[in-house]
Amino acid sequence: MKVRRGRRQQVGEGASAGESGVAVELRGVRRQYGRGAGAVHALAGVDLALPRGSFTAVMGPSGSGKSTFLQCAAGLDRPSAGSVRLGGTEITGMSENKLTELRRSRLGFVFQAFNLLPSLTVEQNVLLPLRLAGQRQDRRRAAAVLAQVGLADKARRRPGELSGGQQQRVAVARALVTSPDVIFADEPTGALDTGTAEEVLGLLRHAVDGLGATVVMVTHDPSAAAWADSVLFLADGSFADRLDHGSPAQIAARMTALTARSGGAMAGAAA
Ligand SMILES: Nc1ncnc2c1ncn2[C@@H]1O[C@H](COP(=O)(O)OP(=O)(O)OP(=O)(O)O)[C@@H](O)[C@H]1O
Ligand SMILES: [Mg+2]
Repeated sequence: MKVRRGRRQQVGEGASAGESGVAVELRGVRRQYGRGAGAVHALAGVDLALPRGSFTAVMGPSGSGKSTFLQCAAGLDRPSAGSVRLGGTEITGMSENKLTELRRSRLGFVFQAFNLLPSLTVEQNVLLPLRLAGQRQDRRRAAAVLAQVGLADKARRRPGELSGGQQQRVAVARALVTSPDVIFADEPTGALDTGTAEEVLGLLRHAVDGLGATVVMVTHDPSAAAWADSVLFLADGSFADRLDHGSPAQIAARMTALTARSGGAMAGAAA
């Protein structure tokens, strides 16, 4: 496995531009759907820099732009304006092919709905990112990441034979298999019960503390967000608040305050 920098070494150590301490950087990012009077400003000017080796949760009311933010930050969607840098690489004008290659080699994804392929075995699902990237399908690597998520004995099973929590752990193993710089997770515990959710959150925490990855996680759940180093709060397409090392109760209180403030703004800026 590649040697990575620990989270405490990252900031301000005079790294070169390409190896800067910033894993994800958005400048003036806007994402508009539709035009004219009916336009929706899903992201209304987002500026953000997430250090390498950090775990960030993104919260906000439904429709505040969380998924749009994650998609733009991960190069799955193109902003209407502004720039996105991943590990110092500007992805804004990048060709679709280059972007796909960057996503496959340097990013990992975990979604609420697991998104495993039912006809493939657990091992084949985990190896899929390597297969898609045209790399050697290293079965020892698959075994190692499956062991990390506690599923060493499930390699030959199909996803349908596993519980929801086990399936999400397979999805985390699949996200880890390429040793990505950044893992993007959209509601990774949304379909799980509390105990199972904690197992998955523990794995994401370990990806940061043990492997030096950067994790960006969208969640509705203050208890899930409390596993992160900081929580960023989105309201109406821009970041309105931030809380570092908050408890679930503190995070829930901030969310309540945010929802009270942004209530009634559902119709969008251009309406
Ligand atoms: N493809 C689309 N076309 C038009 N409008 C869209 C599209 N996708 C999202 N939007 C709008 O952009 C805004 C932000 O949507 P987004 O999905 O990012 O919200 P969210 O915070 O992830 O919400 P949720 O918590 O419900 O998942 C919403 O007003 C939504 O209706
Ligand atoms: Mg969403």
